[in-house]
Amino acid sequence: MVLDLNLLREEMDLRRPAPGIGTPRQEDDEVEILSGVKDGMATGGALTMFVRNRDRDSDKYKQFRDKPRPGHADQTAVAKYGECHDIRGGGQFSGRMTAALVAGGSVAKQLLAEHGIVVAAYTESIGKVVDARRHGIQDMLSIARSNDLRAASEDVIEAMREEILGAREEGDSIGGVVHCLIDGVPVGLGEPFFDTVEGELAKMMFAIPAVKGIEFGAGFRAAAMRGSEHNDPFVVVQGRLRTAKNDAGGVLGGISNGMPIEFRIAIKPTASIAKEQRTVDLKKMEETSLAIEGRHDPCIAPRAVAVVEAAAALVMADLSIRGGIID
Ligand SMILES: Cc1cc2nc3c(=O)[nH]c(=O)nc-3n(C[C@H](O)[C@H](O)[C@H](O)COP(=O)(O)O)c2cc1C
Repeated sequence: MVLDLNLLREEMDLRRPAPGIGTPRQEDDEVEILSGVKDGMATGGALTMFVRNRDRDSDKYKQFRDKPRPGHADQTAVAKYGECHDIRGGGQFSGRMTAALVAGGSVAKQLLAEHGIVVAAYTESIGKVVDARRHGIQDMLSIARSNDLRAASEDVIEAMREEILGAREEGDSIGGVVHCLIDGVPVGLGEPFFDTVEGELAKMMFAIPAVKGIEFGAGFRAAAMRGSEHNDPFVVVQGRLRTAKNDAGGVLGGISNGMPIEFRIAIKPTASIAKEQRTVDLKKMEETSLAIEGRHDPCIAPRAVAVVEAAAALVMADLSIRGGIID
């Protein structure tokens, strides 16, 4: 397979923080390929990609060992790993880990593209600003890739920006929803009982830090519907079996049904905020307070769009290999 390093670079750039609404930490996110590529072709051997951290500021994190940040993983990581937990930069719980996910995801995307499977996502909401429009994959591949909010409707961009800047001004952070669509998926992917399409995607999505929820198709709205409303009627379009709508999110019985796979991801507000919060000094076992200085994203959702796409591509490539679609 030809590995397009320009596409890899583009994906890495889409995860980088945007000036004004992202962390001021500046990483170039250059991917060094150490093995597995010769003359632009993947050799089939192990593909090793290396992303260096260049802009480090480790000292600020030391205090979180004794005074865990509410909402971050400091408390659970120290309880589980003790002295072995390397807390610098948040260690293995840093959003920085998702650079590797995006690098790997770019390879998976290129592999899937050879089989007509395309993964794309966009920012559906930031705080109270919701893009209520339905978007096709083209909006996600064009509009959502050309603005820093990763929004698929141009008229919500500034309102989303205000929502983020407003939270940051108050020393706070804000959450959002990422909407993902996977087009061109053949019928029959997914390995019930345990490795269903929903199960595999959900497991991978929860590996992304700050993800707190996932719903496929109508998701939680289905609980308030009647069957006659929720069921997607079968229809024939140009001789092919389709459904008239897609409340199932492209999955029935854990198996892809040939419609686009569609899901939404809830991203929580960034844990590290400047506003004073209650915490406990674990050495003294006394309640205290914490105001976090440093370079953090006031909103993770726009950066998470590239990460969700990459994670979904890795899962779909894996399911396609298991399903015999990709050799
Ligand atoms: C792209 C990206 C950037 C992130 N940046 C930050 C950050 O600047 N500050 C922070 O506290 N959390 C950040 N996070 C989230 C934390 O890593 C995450 O909340 C923490 O590891 C706890 O895990 P949990 O939220 O999944 O429980 C980021 C996550 C992602 C995906």
